[in-house]
Formats: sequence, structure tokens, C-alpha cells
Amino acid sequence: MKHLLNPLDLSVEEIDEILDLANDIEANPEKYAHACDGKKLATLFYEPSTRTRLSHEAAMMNLGGNVLGFSSADSSSATKGESVSDTIRMISCYADICAMRHPKEGAPMVASQYSSIPIINAGDGGHQHPTQTLTDLLTIRSEKGRLHDITIGLCGDLKFGRTVHSLIHALVRYENVKFVLISPEELRLPSYIRKDVLDKHNIPYEEVVRLEDAMGKLDLLYMTRVQKERFFNEEDYVRMKDFYILDAAKMELAKEDMLVLHPLPRVNEISVEVDRDPRAIYFKQAQYGVYVRMALILTLLEIKVS
Ligand code: NCD
Repeated sequence: MKHLLNPLDLSVEEIDEILDLANDIEANPEKYAHACDGKKLATLFYEPSTRTRLSHEAAMMNLGGNVLGFSSADSSSATKGESVSDTIRMISCYADICAMRHPKEGAPMVASQYSSIPIINAGDGGHQHPTQTLTDLLTIRSEKGRLHDITIGLCGDLKFGRTVHSLIHALVRYENVKFVLISPEELRLPSYIRKDVLDKHNIPYEEVVRLEDAMGKLDLLYMTRVQKERFFNEEDYVRMKDFYILDAAKMELAKEDMLVLHPLPRVNEISVEVDRDPRAIYFKQAQYGVYVRMALILTLLEIKVS
């Protein structure tokens, strides 16, 4: 049985198939409307979420299936002290597939060891967020036409931002991808990713602090929020939170076809005036998240639609 815990659980070919399927779902939604009739998705969210939980649920509903679950640890038996491994044993009897978000790195992996249904990691602490990566890859491939030959700027909280960690793991497998890592010194990409992923694969990258220094060379700019919940003290967060603000003036420094992505939620890092710029595609990106999760559910449940 297959789980999705890390973007590398899928080969490049498998990712291509999921993205192709997502494009077909977008073009022909009615073809898939009953593909999961009678199936259930459990969403176990021990951490806040809007898009990730609701897009998984919308995906299952669009496929004709049903959903059950909880949206905070407070409303589950976790507050009574139940372990993830015990919870997943029950959920395996109640549902056919499960999406789990947890503040602890590795919790979905533990769940997968006790589960008899596929587990989707919907974000584990500051570690990985593979379904956001599938969303990002679908957005880039659909809007830019390719996943190779790109220079991508990753900006903001590169230390705690799990979406960035997963996206780097996935993108290094494509030809001629260059990274510009844009962050304050304190929020640099962890060295285990710089060394074990970028250096190990000889991937070209540079690190800059000022967004203005990167803008002109980028094909894609991936903005992220400072991850408030992962800071040890409020003071550091307050100092960092408005370090980057992308506004219309900065967008003038960018190529005419540079696209702006953001996993959302946005706080202050993109000024609302940028929303009107046709290069801002973060809301469309959230829509792609539904198609790609529909494709992922079908793939993990091994349901073929002809
Ligand atoms: C991201 C996350 O949860 O890591 N949100 C999302 O799933 N789209 C990004 C974030 O919270 O900043």
C-alpha cells in the first residue's frame, strides 16, 4: 500500500501521471463525479488549517465520496492522551484513506506504520508538506508550461517553512532548476537541506537577504509567511514578521512573465495591491490544490476512470 509522507515517495514519472490526471480532472470534472462513490476520507487535523483540510474534503466530495474527521486536537481524544498510533488503528476501520496534519515532525509516518489505509501527510511540523508541493508543481507546470529550466526565488521563512522544504526536494529532480534563497540570516534554509539536498545534487543556488537583489532574475517567486507558531519567543517573531513585503514597486523590478506563488495564508508579506497584478497566481494556486488532491486520492486508492 502506498502513502504520501514525503514528495520523494513519488517518482518523477508518478508525479507526471498525477499532474496529467489533475489537468484532465480540471477539463472534465463530470467524468470523475462518481469515481469515489461509497468511499470515505478521514481528515485528522491536530493543527490549524483552512485550505489543506477543506481542499482535501472538497476533493473527496467532488469524487462522490464522503468525509469525516476533526479540525483541532482539542476536539479529539488526543486531549485525553490518546496516541497517534492508537487513533489511526480506529480510523482505519472508519475510512478508506486519511489526511493527517500534526505539529510533530514524523507523526504521519508513525501513523502509516499502524494504518491499514493510505496516509497523506498534510503537513508535519516544520518538516514536509507534500500535497502543497503537488499543488505547487501543478501550478508551475500549468501556468509556466514546464518544471525544468527555471530560476525560482524562495522568500521568507526558509527555516521553519515546510512548504519550501518539500518543494526543494521535488524540484531538484528536474533539469536546470536554480534557486535563489531569500531570507533574513535567522531564517535561512536549514543546513541539512542545503548540504544534503542542494550541494549533494550539485544544484546551483545563491542566498540573498534583500528581495530587491533577486527580483530581476526570477521566473518564479515563491513567497512564504513567517511561521509564528514555530518560534520560541514572541519577540523574535515580531522582529521578523514584516521583514519582506512584496508590493507593486517591487513587482516593477521583476520580469514581465515572472509568476508569484504563495501557499497561503498570507499575512503581511504580499501587499493586497499585488493581487491585481496578472502575475499574482496564488489564489489560482489554491484552486489547483483541489484538482491535484482529487488526482492523489484516486491514485492512492488505485481507482482508474476511463
Ligand atoms: C502552509 C502550511 O500549513 O505549511 N499552508 C498551507 O497548507 N497552504 C503554509 C503556512 O501555513 O504558512
